[in-house]
Amino acid sequence: MSHESTVPDELGRPAVGASEVPEPGAVTIVVPTFNESGNVRRLLHLITESVPARLPCEVVFVDDSTDDTPDVIREAAPDCPFPVTVLHRDEPAGGLGGAVVEGMKAAGSDWIVVMDGDCQHPPSLVPELVATGERANAGLVVASRYIKGGSRAGLAGSYRLAVSRAATWLTKALFPRRLHGISDPMSGFFAIRRSEVTAEVLKPLGYKILLELAVRSRPQAVAEVPFVFEERFAGESKSTAQEGLRFLRHLAGLRTTSPLARMVAFGLIGLSGFVPNLAALWALTEAGVHYLPAEIVANQFGVAWNFLLLERLLFRDRRRHRHWADRTLRFGLIANADLVLRIPLIALLVGEFGLTVLPATALALVITFVLRFAGTEALVYLPRRRRTARTARSEA
Ligand code: GDD
Ligand code: MN
Repeated sequence: MSHESTVPDELGRPAVGASEVPEPGAVTIVVPTFNESGNVRRLLHLITESVPARLPCEVVFVDDSTDDTPDVIREAAPDCPFPVTVLHRDEPAGGLGGAVVEGMKAAGSDWIVVMDGDCQHPPSLVPELVATGERANAGLVVASRYIKGGSRAGLAGSYRLAVSRAATWLTKALFPRRLHGISDPMSGFFAIRRSEVTAEVLKPLGYKILLELAVRSRPQAVAEVPFVFEERFAGESKSTAQEGLRFLRHLAGLRTTSPLARMVAFGLIGLSGFVPNLAALWALTEAGVHYLPAEIVANQFGVAWNFLLLERLLFRDRRRHRHWADRTLRFGLIANADLVLRIPLIALLVGEFGLTVLPATALALVITFVLRFAGTEALVYLPRRRRTARTARSEA
């Protein structure tokens, strides 16, 4: 963090420090900003108009801008009746999500409200979000575009609308229980009690921070308040296709934290590998290759396909322990061993255990699948404990 300026309010009260005990019901508004110089002055003005004097409030901007947004904030801050802090980050770790986490760490109040800096989230709702949380004794209050009274008027274009709708649907389908009662898990506008923000959430740098909070540290009671997603006041959306891909990876990561869920994902990816496998088999036999060598070569296409998908979706965060060539070799060996193992295993099940061919084959498939999953987890993607311990000792 390069500069950190805290501006005292009108009465000369200093900004609320992270270590001070805040008044109950006080709110820290966390605003991530990336080149929002045309918006921040208006945003502060709207917050000033919206937040009643009896609600102690501070605003923390977490800024990754390359323009003069921090300067504009500092100029506007003395006109505000509440403390305004700018945390400018030279390294924008984690992008939008990382910025929000940074702001939450700095927040000194019981309640944290996260909102965008482009005036798409109406500040007039801030007191209502907190009041609803207090009234319903909720840990999280989501401003939703999808309940009665809410709308997405400001979502630019039918393309963004369709993407947003599909993403919301997919997310709700993947986490029906955890997201029960949250109609808008993609919302970037919500209030959360500081006590509900767990260290678990503060570590990873998810882009959709609300989703992260709702799934990983699901607060006991959740409430929603409708809101109209306004047009951007100035500037352009920073959301890109790349953010979309990051979101899909985030979803995959959240969904596959339990071993069982990972095994299901492993199986689904494995099934999808039949497509390149069979396509290659068809192409090779069409080209006149004998079907036995063709089987072996075609299998490598399926293996490569699986490897790429697994690396990207399932084991993304667990790849660093080994060099990519090491991982490729190990994965390839395990995947092919599976094929080689299956035939003798079927022979064993038929010959020794008296199974008929079909159940023996099915059982062998299941056994080799579980072995392959366990083998891949343990031999390719598990951190090497002994080596780490040794390194730690030599560093100490
Ligand atoms: N600090 C920081 N770093 N802030 C960022 C970054 C970043 O890398 N990227 C974007 N922001 C800030 C923007 O300056 C803005 O204040 C806010 O985050 C939202 O960014 P927009 O670019 O305006 O996003 P959007 O309007 O497309 O998306 C909003 O609506 C979505 C729902 O459709 C966001 O609220 C999303 O979180 C939300 O899912
Ligand atoms: Mn926006």
